[in-house]
Amino acid sequence: MDSSIVLGIESSCDETGAGLVRGGRLLGHAVASSMDEHARFGGVVPEIAARAHVHSVRPVIQQALDEAGLTLSDIGAVAVTTGPGLTGALQVGLAGAKGIAYALGVPLYGVHHLAGHLAADTLEHGPLPNPCMVLIVSGGHTSLLLVRDLARDPIAHLGDTLDDAAGECFDKVARVFGLPYPGGPAIDQSARTGNPRAVPFPRPLTGPRDEAYAFSFSGLKTAAARWAERHAGRELPVADGAASLQEAVADVLTRKAVTACEEYGVGTLVVVGGVAANSRVRSLAEERCQAAGIQLRVPPLRLCTDNGAMIAAVGDLLVRAGAEPAPLDMSIDPSAPLEYAALHPIAAATRAVTA
Ligand code: KG4
Ligand code: ZN
Repeated sequence: MDSSIVLGIESSCDETGAGLVRGGRLLGHAVASSMDEHARFGGVVPEIAARAHVHSVRPVIQQALDEAGLTLSDIGAVAVTTGPGLTGALQVGLAGAKGIAYALGVPLYGVHHLAGHLAADTLEHGPLPNPCMVLIVSGGHTSLLLVRDLARDPIAHLGDTLDDAAGECFDKVARVFGLPYPGGPAIDQSARTGNPRAVPFPRPLTGPRDEAYAFSFSGLKTAAARWAERHAGRELPVADGAASLQEAVADVLTRKAVTACEEYGVGTLVVVGGVAANSRVRSLAEERCQAAGIQLRVPPLRLCTDNGAMIAAVGDLLVRAGAEPAPLDMSIDPSAPLEYAALHPIAAATRAVTA
């Protein structure tokens, strides 16, 4: 079983990804994005995303196979994101994965998208230490997790966001600042020429009486919007606003993550998800981890945003841990909580019969 080549398929949002992993090593991967088709709407349009997946899923898998120098018949297992994500988008990836698993007669695994973000790091930096502290920061999630054996153990949530996710805050504020979609990379780019101390944005939930590991970004978003409104009729110093917002987000995220490592006596912090691509989040995490004697792991930029390799990486861990494959009538779970890396929601019809 160790030598199975695992195909991973990701289609939870606007990226169609396919990746091939064996024994913790990335053999090849490809990503197609429908981001440009959503740009004029200022956010992902679910129906457009689902249709784009239909067009891209087959060529993306072929491209990943070509890159790895493999053919479909080399695949020994299929892993697919079954949640969380957009309903129609997830359905397309799952249908493709089921078709391939059924045709090849190989096991199928449902994977939690966020566990994929974490496993992406193993493709670059090797197996995760047990335990490790994980800061997941994406467009839909912001969580601080204590992770033991990713393939076997439940994932402990030390804290989550009470409202907006960090990426959502970047995306929404970027819109108010007149920056293009997606907002995170645009804020990052604009911040390069700005002063991070120009605007004293708040640091939400960092007071002595606040929940130590919970996050909140909607107040920060509102503060940024109010600041922009105060410039009505004058030119908005966008770079200063972007740099100050980015500094506030990076400060809160890294401060809480390092404190959690210290309190729980955990020597490794892994920062993953789309926002882990942010240059200030990366540099401040580096600075603070170094000062605290904590080892920092962040996946390379190309594996930070959604891709299929990260889903294949989870599938590979599950195969090697001897995890039970999913039934072919597995369903999707668009709002799946992150409890285990494997996510095998059972189709409603089956649940009704067996209930
Ligand atoms: O993980 P991801 O690709 O998709 C989700 O699962 O949500 O994360 C997308 C989020 C978006 O909010 C995007 O604006 C943000 O990650 N992002 C960034 C950067 N690159 C992507 N945020 C800040 N700085 C970046 N360089
Ligand atoms: Zn993601």
